[in-house]
Amino acid sequence: MASSKNLDILFEPQAKKIRTLKGTTVFQAAKDAGVEIRSECGGKGLCGKCRIIVKKPDSLSELTESEKRLLSMSEINEGYRLACQARVLEDTVVVIPPESSFELRRIQATGKERFLEPKPTVEKIFVSLPKPSLSDIRPDYERLLNALEAIKKFEGLEIDYDVLKGLPDIIRQSNFKVTATLWDEHKIIAVEPGNTSEELFGFAVDIGTSKIVGHLVNLATGETLDIESLENPQLAYGEDIITRITFATADPKNLRSLQTLVVEAINKIINGACKRTKKDSNKIYEIVVVGNTAMHHLFLGIQPKYMALSPFTPAIKTRLSIKAGELNLRINPSGIVTVLPVIAGFVGADAVADVLATGVCDSNDISLLIDIGTNTEIFIGNSEDMLSCSCASGPAFEGFRIKHGMKAVTGAIEKIRIDSNLEVEYETIGREKPIGLCGSAMIDTVAEMFRHKIIDRSGKINRDIKTPRLRKSNGELEFVIAWGDETKTKKDITVTQKDIREIQLAKAAIYAGCSILMKRKKLKEKDIAKIFIAGAFGNYLNLENAKIVGLIPDVPLEKVEFVGNTAIVGAKMALISKEARKRADEIAKKVRYLELAADPSFEKEFLKATLIPHKSLNRFPSIRRFLRSG
Ligand code: FES
Repeated sequence: MASSKNLDILFEPQAKKIRTLKGTTVFQAAKDAGVEIRSECGGKGLCGKCRIIVKKPDSLSELTESEKRLLSMSEINEGYRLACQARVLEDTVVVIPPESSFELRRIQATGKERFLEPKPTVEKIFVSLPKPSLSDIRPDYERLLNALEAIKKFEGLEIDYDVLKGLPDIIRQSNFKVTATLWDEHKIIAVEPGNTSEELFGFAVDIGTSKIVGHLVNLATGETLDIESLENPQLAYGEDIITRITFATADPKNLRSLQTLVVEAINKIINGACKRTKKDSNKIYEIVVVGNTAMHHLFLGIQPKYMALSPFTPAIKTRLSIKAGELNLRINPSGIVTVLPVIAGFVGADAVADVLATGVCDSNDISLLIDIGTNTEIFIGNSEDMLSCSCASGPAFEGFRIKHGMKAVTGAIEKIRIDSNLEVEYETIGREKPIGLCGSAMIDTVAEMFRHKIIDRSGKINRDIKTPRLRKSNGELEFVIAWGDETKTKKDITVTQKDIREIQLAKAAIYAGCSILMKRKKLKEKDIAKIFIAGAFGNYLNLENAKIVGLIPDVPLEKVEFVGNTAIVGAKMALISKEARKRADEIAKKVRYLELAADPSFEKEFLKATLIPHKSLNRFPSIRRFLRSG
């Protein structure tokens, strides 16, 4: 729809100007100008998060149906538009309001680690080679092999072709003293002049749907030298997996772009970590990558289409090792990228890493492991048997579909308390003026509103409550959390009836998953020795409130443990220990997967779990006691 006429757009407050073609969307122009605008639907006019304010309304195209649906009348009158819908018709000035710009997200980059003896797959051996002579005319490769085999027994040792090409020069330039790097005892992946055996590094990477975390690791000691994280740049193509898969499958070029984005982000992370620690990225010989199955496929450039369609089959399940150069990852060019195995289409390598890191598969006690995210993976069992499922908890905890919802970034309200006068106390991330509500605040809000009878067990707002905070807006009841004079946006931050429903649906999906797994395993709450809560959201969750809303089973709080980002911990374990890597393979084979959609009781369980805390109070005795006492 763009024509050949060039127009100027100035973005404020970034003060970035760009020349663009008439008819280009503001969203695209912003991207071209390097100005980031929030998008949770990949620019499809569905999420309403790409709000901008235009100073000259006529400089943009007419309002689209999506804008009429997603913007309120007062916003339209104030000049609000959706960047992905509005096209530029004349030179213009566009303001990106705080709620639409990317801020530094709080990324959970670490998790609870267990001690592990480092026995990496990569090893370095320094050898001094006898020089060739007329009485010793062995080829260089054979000379190297013989020297290595004199130190350690190897079977069928091979050499990387690119390493072989440079071998004759390297051994001569270093006066026949070289260090060979071996991968998995069968492949020489580097030969370096002199003794470099002290410099042996690896990198563990967790590719999350919204963030990428990397740990630079000393493979000899197992020590993490540096941690670096970034937003997943694929976010610009949709916040959820399905939007990204749809984009990737629309055109092979799209799949390549998504792959390039994630590879470049990992390169950036590696570069940042190496710069800070003054390490040479050429001395990184292996990367272990985990991620959900969609991220796994997109990273590897594998067609992800069929894992989004019933029966949700991934292209591959087993562990893969690929030369780093083939994926354009900038470590040692003959270094290896190992991607851990997946369990199913929606239970990926990150979940395998969660199980590995928490050790739930090694314990005799029954554990419940919940990794909360847009897709929540749940595991229940012990060393004898482990059952898993994935539930579409949706992005509500990340702020999507919530009127003033946002991710856990600076300015997000993260904790809420309502007092007996129905006044609200809140805390924001970074102690900044509030912009919106993140997931933990939404759980607090629903629990606190329930405690103070502002909502009933069905989640319905009690319209008879007397407080100026309760009001009707656009025909819908809402409760004011922060008044406009307290907020960064100068607008009230509210929780609507619809927001409460969204949280009920999200928590019901997770609880129904737990409940069905427990039923299948014939287990009751009392049988669970431990609940592990993994994922970024977990750490900031008020556990008491999580129980009140019915997000997690009613067990004593001392049985619940936050374990943080166990996906990166599991990746690191597989990087530094061959045994852990084998264990990851066993986990992927052994853990049984239950497709919730195919379970006949799912719908019933889900509906029962939409109530607060649950239709059956027998399952929540501590909440029943609280209700009786109130
Ligand atoms: S509505 Fe514009 S990015 Fe979602």
